[in-house]
Amino acid sequence: MAAAAAAASASSLLVLLLPVLLFSFHVSLASPAKLLADARAPGFAAWLRGVRRRIHQRPELAFQEHRTSELVRSELDAIGVPYRWPVAQTGVVATIVGGGGAATPVVALRADMDALPLQELVDWEYKSQENGKMHACGHDAHTTMLLGAAKLLQDCKDDFKGTIKLVFQPAEEGYGGAYYILQEGSLDDVSAIFGLHVNPDVPLGVVSSRPGPFAATATRFLATVNGKGGHAAGPHQSIDPVVAASTAILSLQQIVAREIDPLQGTVVSITFVKGGEAYNVIPESVTFGGTLRSMTNEGLLYLKKRIEESVVHHCTATVDFMEDKMRPYLAVINDEVMYAHAKSVAQSFLGEENVKVSSPVMCSEDFGFYAQRMAGAFFNIGSHNKSTMTTVHPPHSPHFVVDEDVLPVGAAFHAAVAMEYLKKHASI
Ligand SMILES: *[C@@H]1O[C@H](CO)[C@@H](O)[C@H](O)[C@H]1NC(C)=O
Repeated sequence: MAAAAAAASASSLLVLLLPVLLFSFHVSLASPAKLLADARAPGFAAWLRGVRRRIHQRPELAFQEHRTSELVRSELDAIGVPYRWPVAQTGVVATIVGGGGAATPVVALRADMDALPLQELVDWEYKSQENGKMHACGHDAHTTMLLGAAKLLQDCKDDFKGTIKLVFQPAEEGYGGAYYILQEGSLDDVSAIFGLHVNPDVPLGVVSSRPGPFAATATRFLATVNGKGGHAAGPHQSIDPVVAASTAILSLQQIVAREIDPLQGTVVSITFVKGGEAYNVIPESVTFGGTLRSMTNEGLLYLKKRIEESVVHHCTATVDFMEDKMRPYLAVINDEVMYAHAKSVAQSFLGEENVKVSSPVMCSEDFGFYAQRMAGAFFNIGSHNKSTMTTVHPPHSPHFVVDEDVLPVGAAFHAAVAMEYLKKHASI
């Protein structure tokens, strides 16, 4: 009797404790909210700030990111995450394999590492120490956030199955580092990829993106108009390349105004014209150039063809798209399913009100190379703190600043999006 009572009370104790046991087991599992809380813990956030400041002080241009690459590798060593290096000269591709050692599925996260040829005009303790170079596009923050994700994911890798590749990519600014990363084959087994860009137009704690076209495809051109120089007093004895170039430049504006669907985003901007030197000499030649952009890859091909035709129609000229040196960037087209995935993960830990739909932009991003090869989604992450910043300085401004409170948010976003992707697609 006594024994039965004891057994009964023991089993009712177990019934009472069971939810507690299950609950405490459950909270120890990584969730997006827990990743954010871990990334915001004072020690973790301080480590992120320190990494970002070290990168910010020593900016390096495209394909010269030797010191940055070394910093990335030494932090990965400290975290205990293996990597492949060099990939595309300075790039690093780190790999975290989840619990049980299952290799698939494979999901990738990407950050860019290069800086811009720009003199920093922000006066602060950790400003750039390299003359004429600056992290004015937030790649220092992107690299840091991905290192943050590496640490978060390494700490909870028993909670997911599959592989996460972290891509620290060189040369986003104009030189298409993404293209070369893909060429080396280290992402051949990846089924989905996600990327982030800090955005000072978006408040801290908010992310934004859109399904489908996100960023434009872009390339550049240099036109050389050849004439016959002579005395400006005798224009009939020369062939004036200044007037010919002027006519060609005006006619280029008509391609966008008269030939392209007004609802399709397209830009032709002439950004420089170089001619003669003297007031009374008609020069031999004039050069001009600029940028072409479209929201579709076909749109860019059309623009290239028409620019060549229009310039050559107006004068004896050559048009060079310089694609051997600087590859045209493909449009960033977000995969609808991957967009929806990242959006719902972000909503789950940032709140529905903090995940917005953005407009497409005419800027270009070499994330387009990845998004063409595999299902991908690219997001803006808000880096503007209304309480401390009065003005918004856009990326590529010498006054560009990033509020460092974005770093834990970005680290958690990366980690959560990859982890939840693997949970959804794990082959059980
Ligand atoms: C903005 O900056 C202040 C001061 O550093 C900080 O206390 C606050 O948390 C920041 N805001 C957000 C949304 O992170």
